[in-house]
Amino acid sequence: MKEFISLIIIIIFTGVIYYAIGPVAKKVEGHKFIPNHHFTYSDIPPLKLKGNVAKGKALVFGAGACIGCHSIKSVGIAAPMSPVMAAKTYGVVPPDLSDAGVLYSPKFLAAYIANPVKAMLLQHRYNAKNGKVFPMPAFAGAGGNKQQEIADMVAYFKSIAFTKKISPKTAFVDSCGRCHAIRFDKWTQIGFIPKFKNNLQKLKFELKVTQYQKALKKYKGSLPPDLSTILESRNKHFVEGFMENPQNYIKNTAMPRVGVTAATANQIEKYLFQTSNPEHAQRESLGRGIMIYLFIFAFFAYLWKRSIWKDLH
Ligand code: HEC
Ligand code: HEC
Repeated sequence: MKEFISLIIIIIFTGVIYYAIGPVAKKVEGHKFIPNHHFTYSDIPPLKLKGNVAKGKALVFGAGACIGCHSIKSVGIAAPMSPVMAAKTYGVVPPDLSDAGVLYSPKFLAAYIANPVKAMLLQHRYNAKNGKVFPMPAFAGAGGNKQQEIADMVAYFKSIAFTKKISPKTAFVDSCGRCHAIRFDKWTQIGFIPKFKNNLQKLKFELKVTQYQKALKKYKGSLPPDLSTILESRNKHFVEGFMENPQNYIKNTAMPRVGVTAATANQIEKYLFQTSNPEHAQRESLGRGIMIYLFIFAFFAYLWKRSIWKDLH
């Protein structure tokens, strides 16, 4: 009986520490709580105009000049230059636009095409005073109603991304991967680390990564951190809030507001969780096995003890 009571007490104490004290301690050591707004971007007006896909396509390939800098692989448009060249030219590689219609909130995408600096909340870095120019020009219009033209382009991007559900990995690569590495998943800003046939290949690849990172560092002022363990070292709320509006967390940070939808953010978080917990699934099933083993073991130990003591009482 005594043993049984001790066991219950141990279980209760462990439970209290794990479920009650743990979260409180985390809160106390954490930062000031900043509420999130679920990627609604309330400072950006809703996109009211209905776009025309065919006209949008003509603009993306023509007056918009988007493909002068961006690849759109889903419709066969390759990048005009290598990632390293692009980083040397623009500071960062312009992301592939295949999934732009689903990655980003449509009204963000429209606002971004009209004024990239404002949409990304980077006015402190690019303004008339310091004379610095953002590498992507604001769309000047093609002679018609500019707002309508932008709505047309957004409609085109939606139409080519239409049937896709974005995977966690693609969501990350397309919206964050040009700046952030994930070494736990062998992601570098210029691609996944391939299998090398020889040392020379490996050195060449590493040189490219270094060149890219050097240009990116110059562009952003510092190398954006590797995000392999960000969900562990911070927490879900922080990562979500930071993605939604980095300026809320670090005043005048060089990290842009990326404008992803809530669904994209969710996929990105999934990817960040997978990369920081590659052995998560294994560990869970192993943990269950160990618990079952311990219970069976405890039961037999109890029987054994009883059979030994029964003659002595
Ligand atoms: C002169 C080159 C250039 C042109 C032309 C250009 N872009 Fe970009 N674009 C860039 C660069 C560089 C970036 C990355 C900037 C960064 O992340 O700091 C970018 C980023 C983007 C992003 C990512 C935004 C985000 O929130 O992460 C989208 C979407 C985009 N461009 C769409 C377009 C569209 C649509 C057009 C045509 C209307 C266009 N771009 C024309 C260079 C260009
Ligand atoms: C154009 C480059 C760029 C893109 C794209 C970008 N980031 Fe960042 N990010 C940065 C920079 C630069 C910093 C460092 C900011 C600072 O320290 O002020 C940063 C910092 C962060 C941090 C804070 C890390 C810490 O330790 O506090 C998180 C989290 C983050 N980024 C997540 C993301 C996610 C998620 C995406 C994709 C939705 C993304 N970033 C896209 C440039 C970028």
